[in-house]
Amino acid sequence: MSLDGTRAHLTGSGDLPPLVERAALTATRLDFPYSCRPEQGRLLYALAAGAERIGETGTGCGVGLAWLVSGMRGGATAVSVETDADRAAVAAGLFGALAPSVTVRHADWTAIAEDGPFDLLVLDGGGQGKGDGRPADPVALLRPGGVLVIDDFTPSQGRPPVHGGRPDTARLHWLDHPALRAVEVPLAPDLAVLLCTRSG
Ligand SMILES: C[S@@+](CC[C@H](N)C(=O)[O-])C[C@H]1O[C@@H](n2cnc3c(N)ncnc32)[C@H](O)[C@@H]1O
Repeated sequence: MSLDGTRAHLTGSGDLPPLVERAALTATRLDFPYSCRPEQGRLLYALAAGAERIGETGTGCGVGLAWLVSGMRGGATAVSVETDADRAAVAAGLFGALAPSVTVRHADWTAIAEDGPFDLLVLDGGGQGKGDGRPADPVALLRPGGVLVIDDFTPSQGRPPVHGGRPDTARLHWLDHPALRAVEVPLAPDLAVLLCTRSG
């Protein structure tokens, strides 16, 4: 969870897509600091251009979704699920004019399966397997060649990755997954994501 993701958007260089700026201002108004970081957002923006069907777990106030929607091509669709009713309603309002291309649903992350399989799936609120229950099944949720992004890791110092002094089993689950080709990508000195492509 990016503790300062919302603020980082509004104190940076300022060259934000308009929808992203609106989402970040909404997150500020709701006092929600846990939006993705701009570094992550720019990665999502680039990846979205290669996807027709995009999914996200954990909408928050819609900052990451705004990056995805700003990057996606005409004809692509995006769906995001959020368990908090207030945030889901606010985010749905933010993207309402873009329906039916963009949908925000008030639901547990597991409901994302109803809208899959995806070309691009971002796990940012449920399904990461970081102690938040069972990890998502990439074979069920991704099309062959589909890409999974899992946010909010501290960059590894070596192999195996370590968390709390022990091998980071949550990260290894994805890096060693038999149906995925996966890599850890550092985005900032204190931030890395896992980028995984369905190969099996
Ligand atoms: C890190 S924030 C998401 C930030 C957002 N994706 C962005 O990029 O701005 C995590 C969100 O996931 C939501 N969440 C947590 N558990 C969830 C679950 N089981 N199902 C759906 N959403 C969940 C939280 O309410 C929170 O709004």
